[in-house]
Amino acid sequence: MDKPTVAVVGCGTLGTALARLLHEHGYHLAALASRTLASAQEAAAAAPADKVSDKAWEVVGNADVVFLTTSDDAIRQACEQIAEKGGFAPGQVVLHTSGVHASDLLDAARKKGAAAGSMHPMQSFAGARREGNPFEGILVSVEGDEAAMEAAAAIARDLGATVVRVDPAAKGLYHAAAVVASNYLVALLDMAFTLNQAAGIGPEESVTGLFPLIQGTLKNIQANGIPKALTGPIARGDVTTVQKHLKEIQAKTPALLSLYQALGTRTVDVARRKGTIDDQTAGQFLAMFS
Ligand SMILES: NC(=O)c1ccc[n+]([C@@H]2O[C@H](COP(=O)([O-])OP(=O)(O)OC[C@H]3O[C@@H](n4cnc5c(N)ncnc54)[C@H](OP(=O)(O)O)[C@@H]3O)[C@@H](O)[C@H]2O)c1
Repeated sequence: MDKPTVAVVGCGTLGTALARLLHEHGYHLAALASRTLASAQEAAAAAPADKVSDKAWEVVGNADVVFLTTSDDAIRQACEQIAEKGGFAPGQVVLHTSGVHASDLLDAARKKGAAAGSMHPMQSFAGARREGNPFEGILVSVEGDEAAMEAAAAIARDLGATVVRVDPAAKGLYHAAAVVASNYLVALLDMAFTLNQAAGIGPEESVTGLFPLIQGTLKNIQANGIPKALTGPIARGDVTTVQKHLKEIQAKTPALLSLYQALGTRTVDVARRKGTIDDQTAGQFLAMFS
């Protein structure tokens, strides 16, 4: 089957990466549009398109599939603006890529005869051009009208992803899981780097020291799952080790104490499920964390 022609509206981090990937996979880009012309032109340098504009409604009409890759809060308004100005054509597929919102944000396109859906790649696009294909081997969730889901799934599979259908009502929790696993991992490692800094270990040494530990832990989770992958003082029941952590954190980095205690509380729960500490030891830890 022929690949659909595509338009991308919202040339930020994901929109630009998606446009480049689609171009590299042989898709014809009918249009690139963004709030500012400069962003659309920058994207066009990596992914040539027939039309490049800051007026999406003037350029997306010829695309089979229109991706609205604006920030989440701009999706509904961008869609309504294109619809109001007659930019959509009946039979088009219109997709957004938000993880948290469902395709009801695109109702204005539906009213113009388009099929609407969402296609969320479970991947972190952080801006800088990366080597390789960020869609390779990832999970992409789709929901929406049947024709939109089919078009989204075909494109996602073609880019190398595995596709799942997601219940639109479940997208809040599903997206919270992704935020915890990606964004909160960054915040968690910021905490580890800060503790190291207070111990006189700088960021570069932190990378050297912590990355093999992080990667080993991830491999253990992948191979054995949670809770088996849990090691360390809470899983061993080493109460005095954790007491020392709390004392030092209180003295040197008090702003991190409550987060250490909150994560410790959750870790006690994992250790109980692993079966390596008894109720009494769990109670000792929980008292220290409360
Ligand atoms: N980044 C990720 O890792 C990631 C992963 C999965 C899903 N997503 C989803 O992908 C979408 C885009 O995220 P992002 O991280 O790429 O955001 P971003 O870097 O902030 O880019 C958003 C772009 O939207 C454009 N824009 C805003 N309002 C617009 C409007 N009314 N009309 C046209 N363009 C408009 C902006 O254009 P100008 O530059 O022209 O001002 C900006 O470049 C979001 O729905 C997000 O949830 C992102």
